[in-house]
Amino acid sequence: MSHQEQLLPHDRVLRYEFNERMNHWVAAGSFIYLMLTGLAFWSPWLFWIASALGGAELSRMLHPWIGLVFFVAVCYMFALWSRQMNFDSVDAQWWKSLHYYIQNQDDKMPPAGRYNAGQKLLFWSFFGGAILLLASGVVLWFTESLPWSLRWMRYISVVVHAGTALLLIGNFMIHIYMGVFAERGAFGSVIRGDVSLAFAKRYHPGWYKEIVANSNRPK
Ligand code: HEM
Repeated sequence: MSHQEQLLPHDRVLRYEFNERMNHWVAAGSFIYLMLTGLAFWSPWLFWIASALGGAELSRMLHPWIGLVFFVAVCYMFALWSRQMNFDSVDAQWWKSLHYYIQNQDDKMPPAGRYNAGQKLLFWSFFGGAILLLASGVVLWFTESLPWSLRWMRYISVVVHAGTALLLIGNFMIHIYMGVFAERGAFGSVIRGDVSLAFAKRYHPGWYKEIVANSNRPK
């Protein structure tokens, strides 16, 4: 049994270890800071956010450094979770049954494993997005050092940086809705680390089967 399938008393199971939770909150905290300051730089209507966060200079100075923190956290997330995020045949069926998922008819869904196809897509989009944000962000950070012949890189970076950020903000909203409001019990897993077996059975039946198979519990 791997550490992640560790059964706990009172019919609970460990979903995230301490380092996984800490890293998740470093990624979340840094993302929220980047989103707020980034939106302030993006539109004059939102510039008040930078003032509320300590002023324009501080926000402009910290934004790229916090960007590096976010990137490192996402890389560590990749090291921790990427092996569990590979798409498989259940995921293909999962997409086809998405309408049942939206209608909360979980019993009609194919048995998702530890992560469902939507969570896997979110993971990969955050990972790909973090790479694009870093690449375009570095160009914008050191834009004055770029030779004039490479000025096209600035133009591309402005579009890539803002476009990717807006997509990730959309992802982030969906992620919060799913994790906090739609799947009751999920939020506790990134705070305390554990979920109930009933949660595992309802939202991740494939994972639940593994947990039961690896334990002495009656099936
Ligand atoms: C306030 C902000 C956030 C909240 C409330 C939140 C909530 C959650 C919850 C409840 C889970 C557990 C879901 C489960 O295991 O079934 C989770 C997992 C996860 N979080 Fe977050 N999260 C936040 C920010 C972020 C950010 C910024 C990222 C971007 C790197 C992120 C990436 C992930 C990933 C990749 C997972 C595992 C796959 C998944 O469950 O979607 N989270 N989060």
